Amino acid sequence: MSLSQDQLKQQVAEAAVAYIREFFTADAVIGVGTGSTADKFIDALAPYKDQFKGTVASSERTAARLQAHGIRVFELNEIDSMPVYVDGADEVNPKLQMIKGGGGALTREKIVASVAERFVCIVDDSKWVTHLGRFKIPLEVIQMAKHAVTNQLKALGASEVVERSGFITDNGHPILDVAGFQLADAAALEQQINQIPGVVTCGLFALRPASVVLMAAPQGVKVITA
Ligand code: 5RP
Repeated sequence: MSLSQDQLKQQVAEAAVAYIREFFTADAVIGVGTGSTADKFIDALAPYKDQFKGTVASSERTAARLQAHGIRVFELNEIDSMPVYVDGADEVNPKLQMIKGGGGALTREKIVASVAERFVCIVDDSKWVTHLGRFKIPLEVIQMAKHAVTNQLKALGASEVVERSGFITDNGHPILDVAGFQLADAAALEQQINQIPGVVTCGLFALRPASVVLMAAPQGVKVITA
């Protein structure tokens, strides 16, 4: 029996809750990502809401869904540590480096993930790639820097830079979707892009890859470490 992508996302969301249950304690705050897989994770997490202290959300969308379930949402500024952050990805490679930001929440995702001790990436098998780069790299940028950033990206090797139409992030900035980069050294490229004035966040998550990937495939959910 073949499973739809939606069913695979459901499976990995449930597996993620089982995987992080060891971190449920009265003072544990869980970081929660954004997207359709993260939404399913939130729904699967809800029955356990009394077994941990609360969550930090990586977007307004995620905060609203958590609160609709009666799960407590803290501001990141109230939190010193977090045992685990759980989020989807648009692509992930065998080094557990990711491209994220298809949903436009990359900045808050990277910030919340940076506070967590572990990043648990939850994907269906369509997201697994040998080499990153099929998915365009999203960049959150300052509005007045769009043109200057575009020119610098092209100088670094980008072939196409397109502003995401009709989209503004939770932080009030546009997104540029960038194609054509040579991604043999994704961490070095992330560092180069981070240094362009006007770039708020780069959707490459390579300098700090996931700690573990849970990947749903028709045969079941695989636990992958680098
Ligand atoms: C949002 C993200 C998402 O994790 C990514 O786009 C995957 O989304 P989905 O689970 O809907 O396939 O980075 O900014």
